[in-house]
Amino acid sequence: MSSKTSSALLIGCGNMGSAILYGALKSSPETRFTVYDPSDPKLQDASVRVVSDPAELVGLKPDIAIVAVKPHHFDTLPQEVLSALGNAVTVSVMAGVNTATLAARIGSSRVVRVMPNIAAMIGQSMSVGFANPAAIDAASRTAVEDLFAGIGQFHWLGEEADIDAATAIAGSGPGFVFAFAEQMQNAACALGFKPEDASRLVTQTMLGAAMMMTARDRTPSDLKRMVASPGGTTQEGLGVLVSGDALQNLLAEGTSAALRRARELSVNPQ
Ligand SMILES: NC(=O)c1ccc[n+]([C@@H]2O[C@H](COP(=O)([O-])OP(=O)(O)OC[C@H]3O[C@@H](n4cnc5c(N)ncnc54)[C@H](OP(=O)(O)O)[C@@H]3O)[C@@H](O)[C@H]2O)c1
Repeated sequence: MSSKTSSALLIGCGNMGSAILYGALKSSPETRFTVYDPSDPKLQDASVRVVSDPAELVGLKPDIAIVAVKPHHFDTLPQEVLSALGNAVTVSVMAGVNTATLAARIGSSRVVRVMPNIAAMIGQSMSVGFANPAAIDAASRTAVEDLFAGIGQFHWLGEEADIDAATAIAGSGPGFVFAFAEQMQNAACALGFKPEDASRLVTQTMLGAAMMMTARDRTPSDLKRMVASPGGTTQEGLGVLVSGDALQNLLAEGTSAALRRARELSVNPQ
């Protein structure tokens, strides 16, 4: 396959499918998309062909296909859909469905797993992917990267099992950050701020801090040292937050629980 995909098929155009579609229309504008979703979604882009009857997929040979239905719907995909997927490099974003299961159901080993996160909705996903090098060539990998560049950053994993670990960090991570922000906002309200002011202060503070972390030459530890001048307010607060290992243990336990659940779901994705 050429690295610039010319035709793509999207199966399931819900929250994640539509985010990937609108992102890919920007990152791979040369790609012609067909969308199959029985709910007949109304799309804003007239260049996309929308199909709600699987019979219209007969004979379709897309270069690349993306499966973005819920895992329990994967078992119910009609044969016309499976045949079209069998003609393509098929990328699944379904949580917990491994490449062996995908290959067996589709009848082709040309399968890729990608795990995006919720920030795909605003083009800021941290997505990870796994492709068996024996089944997926370099050009196809580049085509996958090009498509997913539309929803944020993309990182290849060396082992399929690493998807579970990445799910615990990048997949569940936004939820952990939201929980931290929620507690920061509660703390701000306890200091007397109105909820809308607390929200503004915390959100922009987190955004600015996150953007500082994107500088490649500074680690979070470097930045923490930089902001905590001796005898100052930040050092005083950090003395409470990270002087023991309570925060470290809490994060280790939270991510371990997410990893355990990701592994359970890869055995039974229902
Ligand atoms: N949302 C996330 O943050 C996220 C992150 C990582 C991975 N994922 C994965 O992405 C997949 C989709 O999640 P989602 O949140 O986008 O779900 P969703 O909003 O429910 O989207 C699924 C879409 O597929 C449609 N659909 C149902 N049965 C279908 C079929 N047989 N053929 C084609 N389309 C069908 C649904 O239509 P109806 O609404 O009519 O059922 C819906 O439009 C899941 O497997 C999930 O594990 C999601």
